[in-house]
Amino acid sequence: MEKNCSIPSRVIPPSELIINTDGTVFHLHLRPQEIADTIILVGDPARVEMIAKYFDAVECRASNREFNSVTGRYKGKRMTILSTGIGIGNIDIAMTEMDALANIDFATRIVKEQLRQLTILRLGTSGALQPDIEVGDIVFARTSLGFDGLLSYYAGRDEVCDMNLEQAFCEHMQWNAAIPRPYFVDAGNELWEHFKDVAIEGITIAAPGFYAPQGRWVRLKPADEAMNQKIESFCYCGRRITNYEMEGSAIAGLAALMGHRAATMCTIIAQRIAKNANTDYKPFVERMIQMALDKLAVL
Ligand code: URA
Repeated sequence: MEKNCSIPSRVIPPSELIINTDGTVFHLHLRPQEIADTIILVGDPARVEMIAKYFDAVECRASNREFNSVTGRYKGKRMTILSTGIGIGNIDIAMTEMDALANIDFATRIVKEQLRQLTILRLGTSGALQPDIEVGDIVFARTSLGFDGLLSYYAGRDEVCDMNLEQAFCEHMQWNAAIPRPYFVDAGNELWEHFKDVAIEGITIAAPGFYAPQGRWVRLKPADEAMNQKIESFCYCGRRITNYEMEGSAIAGLAALMGHRAATMCTIIAQRIAKNANTDYKPFVERMIQMALDKLAVL
């Protein structure tokens, strides 16, 4: 199942996987039995309770820094909602610690023989890069495109990436070698099949910043002013790049390496081509949450 877990029976040292004295994992402050197989990730810590209010029953809550979580049941299905804060660094932490909770024996510090597969869905907000995608639309990242470079720190990166698409994109963009090489990873296909009737198909960029890494110019000019125009015009086998957010590539990439199924789905709150944004987007996010809960309950 997993593509990068090759060393059998390795005892993971306390400095590599830090377990707190109360038996919780270092950042998430959760114990192995406190994480469900179905996980909703959100950026905003306040959004955890916004989702948990729909639960029939709450089993446990945890909170540390930006990592708030609630495990409970929605329409009988056990789920964990976890906030990650903004950015790829936090996704490296959240994905590794969720996988450790599921698949490492905390007593022996050895990977379990029977691995658990998690289903991970990120619900986020995003800026659209195509003129027909409007504020309020929901885009499902059938493929995530990482501008962040995180996956290249892990062995097996190329095995889970679409290398032909990567090559075509780098040539089209005349990719600047000083920036980490972009990578493309597909969402779990069962998730795409399950959500494709309610969302626009996307290739979603995860950028390592909100401003110049997404082509925004406030006071500092981006290195490549034409970046978003070039992205908008890129087409590969009839597919186009649709939107920007800041976490999905590492979720898709690490899930693929670990053997979990994962995807990112976003509500559009900014239209980058029309150059407008809607700060009153909460009702759109609420609608996406209700739809996602109902769909995950029957997955
Ligand atoms: N989140 C992003 O990362 N970019 C946007 O434009 C909007 C939300």
